Amino acid sequence: GSAFGADIELAKKSHIQKILERGELRVGFESGYMPFEMTNKKGEFIGFDMDFGRRMAKAMGVKFVPVNTAWDGIIPALVTDKFDIIMGGMTITQERNLKVAFSNPYIVVGQAILLNKKHEGKVKSYKDLNDPKYILTSRMGTTGEQAIKRMIPKATYKGFESEAEGGMEVINGKADALVYDLPFIGVLYSSQGQGKTVFLDQPFTYEPLAWAINQGDPDFLNFLNNFLMQCKGDGFYEKVYNKWILS
Ligand code: ARG
Repeated sequence: GSAFGADIELAKKSHIQKILERGELRVGFESGYMPFEMTNKKGEFIGFDMDFGRRMAKAMGVKFVPVNTAWDGIIPALVTDKFDIIMGGMTITQERNLKVAFSNPYIVVGQAILLNKKHEGKVKSYKDLNDPKYILTSRMGTTGEQAIKRMIPKATYKGFESEAEGGMEVINGKADALVYDLPFIGVLYSSQGQGKTVFLDQPFTYEPLAWAINQGDPDFLNFLNNFLMQCKGDGFYEKVYNKWILS
């Protein structure tokens, strides 16, 4: 019974063992964050993150199990083992990184703006929106909301339960601009925003997106980073990037 002995007995096995024993990779995300995760007409989850999740499960020889989870509870759900990994377009923030471990980033995005067309030519960047007369929308609990509060503090902020609602408010002219991750704004603009909005596509924050797992598991983290490197080296990354992000 030395203190060292106890430490060795209690040494935690990697969560990888549990995934293999269960025969499932349970992936947490919130559907509706286009083009990373959304639902097709058959009710299947598709998108950039979903393609990586499916391939990761295949690489582990286990079943891919999508777990659609509300964004505001997604970190607590990971911590209480409702799934094995978050693959949900999550920006690495220092605040989140105190609670979870992040892989290397699989893409870097930034905040962009969907502007109501009535301001076309007058509002050119987020700086021009820093006035209480502008109503800005975003998704609550995201880095979009944080960007508004930190960088556009004088504007009037209206938070929504989903990014789609925040976007519709701007398309319908009830709000002046949506501040959100650039790829989402790109998809919304091309599908519903043309003629009614302007896409200000210069990202004004630096946001690495990464997969999140529970802390204290260097082997799982090592697996993720090497998996990502493999995807980048063998053409898979380019294939799914072109399919979801560039199109
Ligand atoms: N990247 C942003 C963040 O981390 C937005 C992610 C939102 N994802 C979602 N599934 N709603 O805050």
